[in-house]
Amino acid sequence: MSTETVVPAKVATGSTAMKLLIYGRTGWIGGLLGKLCEEQGIPYVYGSGRLEDRAALKADIVAAKPTHVLNAAGVTGRPNVDWCESHRAETIRANVIGTLNLVDVCKLHNLHVTNFATGCIFEYDAAHPLGSGVGFTEEERANFAGSYYSFTKGMVEELLRVYDNVLTLRVRMPITSDLRNPRNFITKITMYEKVVNIPNSMTVLDELLPYAVEMARRGLTGIYNFTNPKPISHNEILELYRDYIDPSFKWTNFTLEEQAKVIVAARSNNELDMTKMKKEFPEMLDIRDSLIKYVFEPNRRVPKEAATTKLAAVQASDSVVVTSSDAASNGHVGTVS
Ligand SMILES: NC(=O)c1ccc[n+]([C@@H]2O[C@H](COP(=O)([O-])OP(=O)(O)OC[C@H]3O[C@@H](n4cnc5c(N)ncnc54)[C@H](OP(=O)(O)O)[C@@H]3O)[C@@H](O)[C@H]2O)c1
Repeated sequence: MSTETVVPAKVATGSTAMKLLIYGRTGWIGGLLGKLCEEQGIPYVYGSGRLEDRAALKADIVAAKPTHVLNAAGVTGRPNVDWCESHRAETIRANVIGTLNLVDVCKLHNLHVTNFATGCIFEYDAAHPLGSGVGFTEEERANFAGSYYSFTKGMVEELLRVYDNVLTLRVRMPITSDLRNPRNFITKITMYEKVVNIPNSMTVLDELLPYAVEMARRGLTGIYNFTNPKPISHNEILELYRDYIDPSFKWTNFTLEEQAKVIVAARSNNELDMTKMKKEFPEMLDIRDSLIKYVFEPNRRVPKEAATTKLAAVQASDSVVVTSSDAASNGHVGTVS
């Protein structure tokens, strides 16, 4: 047994009174988790240690005395994951060494960790063809290593299977109601000069982040696909954007081959199987309904009664540059993971 062991390694589960120690204070998801705790009246503190600094993590735990740890820290690359291709040591330090370090230290302190991981470790294949409705399950192993970011995330997920104190949440293409946020998948695809078009599983954070906190409270461990049920394509989202936000919005699709010329690393496209999450949260909305409820209705700029008339006019003027071949063959540019 390691000399670092503080208490017997038995993970606390099902506790109702929580105090959270959150990593990723300056990050997008970490920031949202802090806000959520404020709203829900859950005591929390942000960790100040770097993930690769084991002594600093221990000091955070000793000082905060948390009941649970949430990890939303890691490198995602700026402006996008292509950064990781040329910063491999930095990517390993934070996302591999750092994540394993935090989970391991928490194990020795008998602490449950919720790890915000990624579902961008899969790509459609013969057993999970695009459009088939057959998603990747939690038992399935990564089959996509086209980017260094995804490669390291897939390896870490595999190693974390050993730890019984970890809840791994596979986030994908996160979306929030804040359409000014450049990290928001919707903001990204409305800004691109050209956008690819392929159905993907995606995470509406406004709906799902509260589930993450509840899953920690329930002491759940293991891997969960952390997206809304059913995939949605880029064009379906942009159509919603046009119908709710800007009837004059136009976009142009391009193919995966054309996309490959403007990005460094390949991007993952996949559908995740949502059976396990749905069992835990039967009320969870399918992606389209979640987008309408949490993103498009709250941001609606097109009056309801005007929408139908304007939409008909826009469609008649053939403003959207989409062809059926585009729709069948695209991916996406610039998504973090
Ligand atoms: N955004 C997405 O599209 C997406 C999709 C799927 C999964 N995820 C995963 O979700 C997690 C959070 O994503 P995010 O979008 O919120 O990321 P983000 O906005 O890039 O924030 C990352 C956070 O991690 C911190 N961090 C980086 N390296 C660290 C280290 N070595 N030690 C301690 N803190 C460190 C950063 O702090 P500093 O500024 O101080 O470095 C920052 O607070 C990541 O693991 C990401 O892979 C994100």
